[in-house]
Amino acid sequence: MNKHHEVWGSRLGLILAMAGNAIGLGNFLRFPVQAVRNGGGAFIIPYLVCLVLMGIPLLWVEWSIGRRGGRLGYHSTPFMMHTLSKRPFWKYAGVFGIFNNLAIASYYCFIESWTLAYVWHSLRQTFTGLSQSEVVRHFDNYVDLTTRFLGIPGEAVFFFLICVALNTYVLSRGLKGIERVATAGVPLLILFGLFLAGKALTLGSSGATEEFPDANSWAGLEFLWKPQYHSLSDPKVWLAAAGQIFFTISVGWGMIHAYASYVRSNEDIALNGLTAGMSNEFVEIVLGSLVVVPIAAGYLGIGWVTENISFGAAFQTMPFLFGKWGPVLATFAGVMWFGLLFLAAITSSLAMGMPWMGFMRDEFNWSRMRGAVSFGVILLMMGLPTVFFYRQGFFDEYDYWAGTVSLVLFALLEIILFAWVFGIRKGWNEIVMGADIRLPGLFRYVIKYVTPLLILSVLVGAVITPEGNDWLVAFRDLFHGYGWKLDDNSLIMQLTNSALYDQIARSTDPLEIAGLKEKIFFRNMARLMLLGLFAGLCLLVRFAFVRRGKQITEES
Ligand code: PHE
Repeated sequence: MNKHHEVWGSRLGLILAMAGNAIGLGNFLRFPVQAVRNGGGAFIIPYLVCLVLMGIPLLWVEWSIGRRGGRLGYHSTPFMMHTLSKRPFWKYAGVFGIFNNLAIASYYCFIESWTLAYVWHSLRQTFTGLSQSEVVRHFDNYVDLTTRFLGIPGEAVFFFLICVALNTYVLSRGLKGIERVATAGVPLLILFGLFLAGKALTLGSSGATEEFPDANSWAGLEFLWKPQYHSLSDPKVWLAAAGQIFFTISVGWGMIHAYASYVRSNEDIALNGLTAGMSNEFVEIVLGSLVVVPIAAGYLGIGWVTENISFGAAFQTMPFLFGKWGPVLATFAGVMWFGLLFLAAITSSLAMGMPWMGFMRDEFNWSRMRGAVSFGVILLMMGLPTVFFYRQGFFDEYDYWAGTVSLVLFALLEIILFAWVFGIRKGWNEIVMGADIRLPGLFRYVIKYVTPLLILSVLVGAVITPEGNDWLVAFRDLFHGYGWKLDDNSLIMQLTNSALYDQIARSTDPLEIAGLKEKIFFRNMARLMLLGLFAGLCLLVRFAFVRRGKQITEES
């Protein structure tokens, strides 16, 4: 039955590939932004708690569902989940495990392509001598598709196509290709990260100027790491911390299952899962907090950082700050910073191709080449709109529904299936089978009760986020009989586009109204594309199921 004879070349290769997929843009871009926006040291404690009570248990669950799936001949989640319960619902729940990866890869590859373009520009010394606002403008023009590359307009499209082609090529070489990229890429990116971290640490207050007299890189670190306990009771911080854990260690995606399905059936997963997860944490907590925030604080002060930090700052501010190191070092730093981001990104986007390729190979006998090329085609179909309509919010819409909501939803479904339907007794045996370490039995209960409850509260919290994201006030109002006012960012309000409709109702400027209407149109289009993708995958699963007849492999 098992048509895939492929397995990972070595334990080191497997761990590096797993670490490589987890170490991504999330570690260097998303983490610092989340940490700063949620109060620095106030963020870290909920973050670590979510890691231990949600992230690591989910890692074990996903590795074990994946290894079990591989043993039975499945390399993506729909039929893996079917083997855990025969109810039709579960195989469609498993569709998330392919969907999340395809949908997210479509916009992830776009950011990946920015990093590649910025490596190019660093090499060309495009940013040398530019003022801060000119560097910002460069980015704006880039995503506005007005910049030219080699005389052709639409540089962003060009680099996006290159990235899709690169991913397709490596994937067509199979696990070996991924293993090679990870084995070279992960150590290299750590090296680059260490260099930049070294620069940040030695910067101190030497970058202070008349304009920014308080600039000090150490203040950045202190802000991130000085524990503050007051926000422990703030659900907003907890939600952000949980979301970051999902994103960074790649749980809730369906991708770990796919990678783990290529391990040998007696391979240890308890230790491997932990090692890969912890490598990601090292890169996130140590390196991720040692670059953007301290360097920016070292020149612009921590006040500037807390007000201005954003995802785009990595592109809009860093090249300008590197410029202060003189043209030669600035070039090196630029290549290292954007090179590091590119390596982190590509080892992640490659992983996102695996569930789709595994599924098509299992069910329709598609060759690796066919799987890889079709992944590229899906990236183009789903991803090009994010490139063309970035400004109109296409990208953010994908990021919200696929990159945030759907991860949590899938994680909740799979842990219920694993711990309650399949049963924690059998589930735990799967996890510890072949383990080189003894896992504390306490985690049985964590997996059964704590993790699902935590995930459920994250989901509920996102659906009914109260106005201003201020839970304390919201509960007080509720008890005083004022009801529950939803925030514009709550899932319900997002779904109904309420904030935009409100703005339209309030506006008298026809130009603004037209702009808002356009935004609603593009939001809805993005949702349609996502829904279409999901429905298409469900149909494929249905078709594959009928085609197999009763030939679904059972545990022997
Ligand atoms: N964990 C990656 C990041 O931090 C994202 C990712 C998730 C990559 C799932 C691959 C699969 O950016």
